[in-house]
Amino acid sequence: TWTMAAFRDQAIARIRQQVGSKRVLCGLSGGVDSSVAAALIHEAIGDQLVCVLVDHGFMRAGEAEEVVSVFRDRFNIRLVHREASDLFLQRLDGLTDPEQKRKIIGATFIDVFEEEAKKVGGADFLAQGTLYPDVIESVSFAGGPSVTIKSHHNVGGLPERMNMALVEPLRDLFKDEVRALGRELGLPDTMVGRHPFPGPGLAIRIPGQPLTRELLDLLRKADAIYLEEIRAAGLYDAIWQAFAVLLPVRTVGVMGDSRSYDYALALRAVTSTDGMTADFFPFDAAFLSRVSNRIINEVKGINRVTYDVTSKPPGTIEWE
Ligand code: XMP
Repeated sequence: TWTMAAFRDQAIARIRQQVGSKRVLCGLSGGVDSSVAAALIHEAIGDQLVCVLVDHGFMRAGEAEEVVSVFRDRFNIRLVHREASDLFLQRLDGLTDPEQKRKIIGATFIDVFEEEAKKVGGADFLAQGTLYPDVIESVSFAGGPSVTIKSHHNVGGLPERMNMALVEPLRDLFKDEVRALGRELGLPDTMVGRHPFPGPGLAIRIPGQPLTRELLDLLRKADAIYLEEIRAAGLYDAIWQAFAVLLPVRTVGVMGDSRSYDYALALRAVTSTDGMTADFFPFDAAFLSRVSNRIINEVKGINRVTYDVTSKPPGTIEWE
């Protein structure tokens, strides 16, 4: 019978056969797929694997630190953590157009990754956490209608540009199998069960105004409170994805006995099976009120919280 332990052993043998004594680079984001791919490849080839975390400054609270502590400190994986938020903010300076932002973030990501790859002496192979549904999707979409709703940011484009072959050990697996494999490999539950997170991160959750460190920090704090309450209520696993969006509008409020004039925030949570369609999650009023109170009390600069009740379609999951 097929077991995850058997799959793991076979996958390790295949990786060893494919790469021999060559080096493999892996872009690590903290997401489930790249994390599991990295842990598996590390078991197969140890220090021949070098992971690169391109930290664009748009990750959630504590996320980069968690990746470093799990991969470098616990698993002893060679990991380059490149903090590049200055560069990303500089290239995005003054911009608000969603597509422009996505394209610049994608291109900058590749530039930084390439720079770090050169520093470690390059590699013949690039690891990717491609799953079976990704393989299917790219086949069935070929020749179909080609309306670009959003330019997705991922490491596609890197292999050609850097002349690298791909190592894709998760190509035969579905998401739930990847999670099971991650547990088998000893990755923490917080990492293996994590909601999807877009490559451009918090940068596409601040629509309508140029990005600044201050706005990113406001959003990061509010987002952390929202997710903390979702976990505390035992709802995390019932939700496909939940996040906050910082709106480009300030509204009047009353705090104590004085007037406030601060940012409004939108909360989003959806259920979905594949991200292609989605429904908003029906939180109860007590939960929403608890989150709203905490955010307004604890995050200076936000004085109003709204809940997004749009399904996909006609909405998309992210706002940009
Ligand atoms: P939308 O907003 O198109 O999102 O309904 C569908 C799913 O894709 C995620 N998403 C991304 N994932 N790079 C990614 O890796 C991206 O550029 C990107 N944009 C959106 C989104 O979070 C949701 O899970």
